[in-house]
Amino acid sequence: MAITGKVQRISGPAVIAEGMMGARMYDIVRVGEENLVGEIIRLDGTTAFVQVYEDTGGLTVGQEVVSTGLPLAVELGPGMLNGIFDGIQRPLDKIFEASGTYIDRGITVNSLSREATWAFTPGVAKGDEVKAGHPIGTVPEFSFTHKILVPPGKGGTIESIVPAGEYTVDDVIATLADGTELKMMHPWPVRQPRPFEKKLDPVTPFLTGMRILDVLFPLTMGGTAAIPGPFGSGKTVTQQSVAKYGNADIVVYVGCGERGNEMTDVLVEFPELEDPQTGNPLMHRTVLIANTSNMPVAAREASIYTGITLAEYFRDQGYGVSIMADSTSRWAEALREISSRLEEMPAEEGYPPYLASRLAAFYERGGRVTTLAGEQGAVSIIGAVSPAGGDFSEPVTQATLRITGCFWALDASLARRRHFPAINWNRSYSLFTDILEPWYREHVAQDYPELVERAVGLLQRESDLQEVVQLVGPDALQDQERLIIEAGRILRQDFLQQNGFDPVDASCSLEKAYGMLQMMLKFYERARASLEEGATIDEILANPVTEKINRSRYVPEDDFPAYRDDVLKQLDAGFAVAA
Ligand SMILES: Nc1ncnc2c1ncn2[C@@H]1O[C@H](COP(=O)(O)OP(=O)(O)O)[C@@H](O)[C@H]1O
Ligand SMILES: [Mg+2]
Repeated sequence: MAITGKVQRISGPAVIAEGMMGARMYDIVRVGEENLVGEIIRLDGTTAFVQVYEDTGGLTVGQEVVSTGLPLAVELGPGMLNGIFDGIQRPLDKIFEASGTYIDRGITVNSLSREATWAFTPGVAKGDEVKAGHPIGTVPEFSFTHKILVPPGKGGTIESIVPAGEYTVDDVIATLADGTELKMMHPWPVRQPRPFEKKLDPVTPFLTGMRILDVLFPLTMGGTAAIPGPFGSGKTVTQQSVAKYGNADIVVYVGCGERGNEMTDVLVEFPELEDPQTGNPLMHRTVLIANTSNMPVAAREASIYTGITLAEYFRDQGYGVSIMADSTSRWAEALREISSRLEEMPAEEGYPPYLASRLAAFYERGGRVTTLAGEQGAVSIIGAVSPAGGDFSEPVTQATLRITGCFWALDASLARRRHFPAINWNRSYSLFTDILEPWYREHVAQDYPELVERAVGLLQRESDLQEVVQLVGPDALQDQERLIIEAGRILRQDFLQQNGFDPVDASCSLEKAYGMLQMMLKFYERARASLEEGATIDEILANPVTEKINRSRYVPEDDFPAYRDDVLKQLDAGFAVAA
């Protein structure tokens, strides 16, 4: 018999139900006459604390609360790509088409279409042994090859398998000797990490195409990064750029309760993004999870778990997945609101004491792994943090920076000066630089790490000198010091800055970034020598080669090697003879 209790108290999205004998943590319940969907998030004897994923208006004390006996789960299978879902994986696009507003309350919608058919090609035959996590066939989804996996926990001998053809996610496509039926879709509880064979060290870069990130603060495949920054500093633009140009096979984008109009932007803009890998819509390899701030707060709390579970599922097929959460601060606020409604003891700034451990548990689901099928897959997590007023000392930013491997600090004052991406190179860091060194030497250039170190040193000396200039004015500087300021300016304006809206400059390969550094550092070395030989700073800056270096970021990748070689050759000639 179903576990049935009664509503005792209602406070916004939080409902307390009594008489829930035998109920389990995280079980999904149906609340009230309208069968609202809720989840048990705390149990105290037979009293269940429930967060409800739908508007609780109209719900009254005494109405029934019935446990389904099942945890909050997503449906995993073909049909997620190009999809837009809410925080508990209800398809939003259909709803938007129908009404432009909410899903009717209490209605069960299937996450994956039961009508759509998919061209399944079996990869195993009767009599084959199949293990959990191993593929039994494939389905093409746009240009992506979706591998149909034996769900974790299942496995055995194939008793029957369908021939190649069109099937729905609900059709039985294979049976095992013990009678287990396999479909193209299987459910998975979102709060439970999906199993893998082994966690691997992060030794390859996750390339974003953004020079300041890839060169100064690199992320690894399977690594985690935080993008903290105040409103308007570029978190969303940065995440969209990383989604578009990052070297992941699949993108999961969780738009988490930012202001209503901002989410509308994401819902409008994202479907328009073009995939630079194929020229097709980026949505063809993207799952969008959208919670606007006018949607119930509990669905926002669940959305990052829904997102990471989808990401793990694609990882388990042996792919590289990137997941963006924009923003985790809104998620944390959802956690805080529900916690306070349940009258839990608050900690710092009203957040529940388990804020940090919840955040850690989320980021821990990232990583590079050997899958159950013996392939390599990775989930790289990039989470935006939007502290009020850009104050990084607040709890969500502080808890996040203790967990993530990269900290990409956005800066309002850089954004105000239109220095984009507005990533502050003094406050940002990456813990992955050293671990990636062998990869750089092998795949970019033997001296790449040293070149980067010299560039960082030059930026540092420039910033020190800028402080001097602030105090005593530019006239106090020697020519050699003025040169450091000029060379630093080139690095800042023409290397660290990147125009996200320019078709060429929007994304940069490491090879091109390396070539740019070669030019800029050689410029500095040659100019220094020329100063000693009697040239003036003004002569150096007026030399046409300087202008060529300034413009190098707008040179297309294909033309770049010749361009660089030409500039390096001109620099060899030095600046002694003014143009
Ligand atoms: N990389 C960039 N290149 C050019 N402009 C940018 C870049 N990043 C941000 N911007 C500008 O800053 C504005 C605000 O960025 P946005 O990502 O929406 O901020 P946030 O999400 O932090 O509130 C954008 O609309 C755009 O005009
Ligand atoms: Mg934003």
